[in-house]
Amino acid sequence: MSEAKLSLYYKNVTAEVIGEEHGITKVQFDRMASRTKPAIEKVNSARKAGRTPYRDLPYNKDYPASVKKIADQLAGTCENFVVLGIGGSALGNIALQTALNPYMYNLDDRQRKGPRLFVFDNVDPVQLGSFLDWIQGRLDGTFFNVISKSGRTAETAAQFLTIRKLLLDRLGPDGLRDHIIATTAASQGTMRQITDAAGFRSLTVPDGVGGRFSVLSPVGLLSAAVCGIDIDQLLAGARDMDARTIGCDFFANPAAINAAINCHYYDRGKPISVMMPYCHALKDMSDWYRQLWAESLGKSKSLDGADIFVGPTPVKALGATDQHSQVQLYREGPNDKLFTFLQVNEFDRDVQIGPTPDCAPELGYLAGANMSKLLNSEKLATEYALLHDKRPCLTVTFDRLNAYTAGQFIYLFEVTTSIAGVLFNIDAYDQPAVELGKEATFALMGREGFEQLGQKISPVARIDSDYMV
Ligand code: PA5
Repeated sequence: MSEAKLSLYYKNVTAEVIGEEHGITKVQFDRMASRTKPAIEKVNSARKAGRTPYRDLPYNKDYPASVKKIADQLAGTCENFVVLGIGGSALGNIALQTALNPYMYNLDDRQRKGPRLFVFDNVDPVQLGSFLDWIQGRLDGTFFNVISKSGRTAETAAQFLTIRKLLLDRLGPDGLRDHIIATTAASQGTMRQITDAAGFRSLTVPDGVGGRFSVLSPVGLLSAAVCGIDIDQLLAGARDMDARTIGCDFFANPAAINAAINCHYYDRGKPISVMMPYCHALKDMSDWYRQLWAESLGKSKSLDGADIFVGPTPVKALGATDQHSQVQLYREGPNDKLFTFLQVNEFDRDVQIGPTPDCAPELGYLAGANMSKLLNSEKLATEYALLHDKRPCLTVTFDRLNAYTAGQFIYLFEVTTSIAGVLFNIDAYDQPAVELGKEATFALMGREGFEQLGQKISPVARIDSDYMV
């Protein structure tokens, strides 16, 4: 498995392919190389100074050991594993599950190597209510992993309190203790207090690792391990990508090239970054990337404190599905996007398309062909069509999709984000703008200490019927 490789293919952003107005010339590329080298050095020094501990997660031995210990304890007794979390405490879990387990995993016992997995990253009463109806009689075989670094996040706290009551009512205090596993900060925060008081089994969200950089920590590893994903290979893939992204030779560093190309286009009228996997299993990796990119790079202040209002807008699309939804815009609308395709060269399995009936000879070109050939042909066809209209295209190719290449992919985009942060001259690791909405929710839900904010919100809450039709 460990021979599978992930590569970044960037010929289709060059002026040679799409012309000088929209493509990158050799001179520009060389300039990008000299501008990016110091950014790689900065990112490496930040790591050495301990400011980006996510970089060292693939080397940590304690986290996978503690994760496997709990996964072993659950094996055989756990039929349903339920993650309660949001944002960086959920998107990586979902992405790994979709990428590395079969599409029918939850529904087909023969395709499952572990319990069913459910990830709740919202507070929609209809969604959760439907699940609660289903789970009632199945609580003995159901375990909940509440993931919250702070424990203050309203959505996760609300889910947790709901499940806590259900477990207390049905299984009593011992059942509550046995059926919750908390992944939270090691020694502080609301969820740590609750965990210690209740005696839950727990795992650590590492200090200094923000949610969106935490998938290779216990945050993402536990649900993966419980559901039979090879977390050792995942981490090995990340280490492999570390070796490839640490070097200061721009031309050999895929994260540096990726970051530099993205920033180049952002500065030249292409502020939208579309990620379009041609592989259903990778569709939630785009969702994970969307948060990583948006929360890390969307900032109003530069590192020097000046107004900057920067940040590419990440958009997720899916091939071939969105060819019938988005590509009209992508080709003929504003030329303001950089496209990143994800392509799998060799799929784990193939499906042969059936024969055509005599009355429809025009479908004969499909008959007997492999579905993978059709999917990858559609990728190339879409790329060709975009290039025809001078739209720049990158491709990340997976030799095969497995835990090793998934680890490479995750680490590649994390380091890309760090380098892009330096190139944009912003702090890629904070998310100050998320706070106001969180606090406004506290105010609207009547939390003590947020009364003044509540008063500021009330004019917005009043519906002015003059403007209602
Ligand atoms: O990436 C992030 O930092 C956020 O998306 C957090 O993960 C999210 O807000 C959840 O926070 P917490 O883990 O504290 O509940």
